[in-house]
Amino acid sequence: MAKRLAGKVAIVTGAGRGIGRCEALLLAQHGARVVVNDLGGAPSGEGADKSVAQSVVDEIRAAGGEAVANTDSVATMAGGKAIIDSAIKSFGRLDILINNAGNLRPKPIWEMSEEDWDAVVNVHLKGTFVCTRHAAPIFRQQRGGVIVNTASESGLGHYAMANYSAAKEGIVGFTRTVARDLGQFGVRVNAIRPRAGTRMATPEVLDTIRIQQEVLGFPALGNSWLSSDDEEIRPEQPATLAVWLCTDACSNVNGQVFEANGRQIGLWPEEEMSRVIHRPDADWDLDTLDRPAIRNYLIGHLTNKFAGKKK
Ligand SMILES: NC(=O)c1ccc[n+]([C@@H]2O[C@H](COP(=O)([O-])OP(=O)(O)OC[C@H]3O[C@@H](n4cnc5c(N)ncnc54)[C@H](O)[C@@H]3O)[C@@H](O)[C@H]2O)c1
Repeated sequence: MAKRLAGKVAIVTGAGRGIGRCEALLLAQHGARVVVNDLGGAPSGEGADKSVAQSVVDEIRAAGGEAVANTDSVATMAGGKAIIDSAIKSFGRLDILINNAGNLRPKPIWEMSEEDWDAVVNVHLKGTFVCTRHAAPIFRQQRGGVIVNTASESGLGHYAMANYSAAKEGIVGFTRTVARDLGQFGVRVNAIRPRAGTRMATPEVLDTIRIQQEVLGFPALGNSWLSSDDEEIRPEQPATLAVWLCTDACSNVNGQVFEANGRQIGLWPEEEMSRVIHRPDADWDLDTLDRPAIRNYLIGHLTNKFAGKKK
């Protein structure tokens, strides 16, 4: 097997389980030396267990690769610094950062506490920021580096996941902006929206999907209707795409968002306005917006697809 990442040093956050573990194993198979970061807590983010990151390090070493464990939390500035420092201290350089760590606290918005909000936004969105922030000076100075962030189709709309959706769509905006900040230094920053059968499919998350589709009558993830007959999806599948984005085959790819869902992969488009009207002579006012021709063109084709049956 050609080792596409020989000589490279990579960090994967949340690499003790699920998609991150598969990313760390594949990076190591391709010759990268890997920092396996994981706090080792519950799906909600509570608790910690150092053996979770170490178990993946042991797997990598048993297969002949090089890895070290790091158990800092991505959710603080100091944790992000310690994670990046761990690569420099252990391996003397850093080339690849995969921001993957994640947690979940699904609740409909009228029940979501400040703690539920902060716990999720701090791990996903702030966690992506702090690791990127501490990697950026290194990448800028060495004129190269790759970052892969982990977004989600939940960002397209997912019942009872406002904290998670907001964080994940925040990661999309963050990716597109940091690609612009760092592109001039030969650094690439992309994101994936994965699907995978991991422990993240908690009973609470499966319930959010059931309520959306069976009770409220709209698709679970954006426009995608999930079915129990869907093919089995495994964490190795999105990991392959994430690692491919780190290789030179993708040296032309920056600021993009990809889908990785079982055997289907895809490139998401950048947002575009679907209907545009411009009034050259004056600002818009409510009476002008009410005019049938204007109203029909701009919003006449829409229906409120979420107003249906109440639970
Ligand atoms: N599984 C899916 O279908 C799916 C869909 C969309 C997005 N994602 C995203 O993919 C990523 C990986 O999820 P997964 O399905 O492999 O879940 P997972 O729970 O198996 O793995 C996530 C890992 O992140 C670690 N983690 C949590 N908080 C941390 C912190 N503060 N610091 C360091 N590590 C921490 C956990 O301990 C865990 O091992 C997440 O960002 C998730 O939101 C997953």
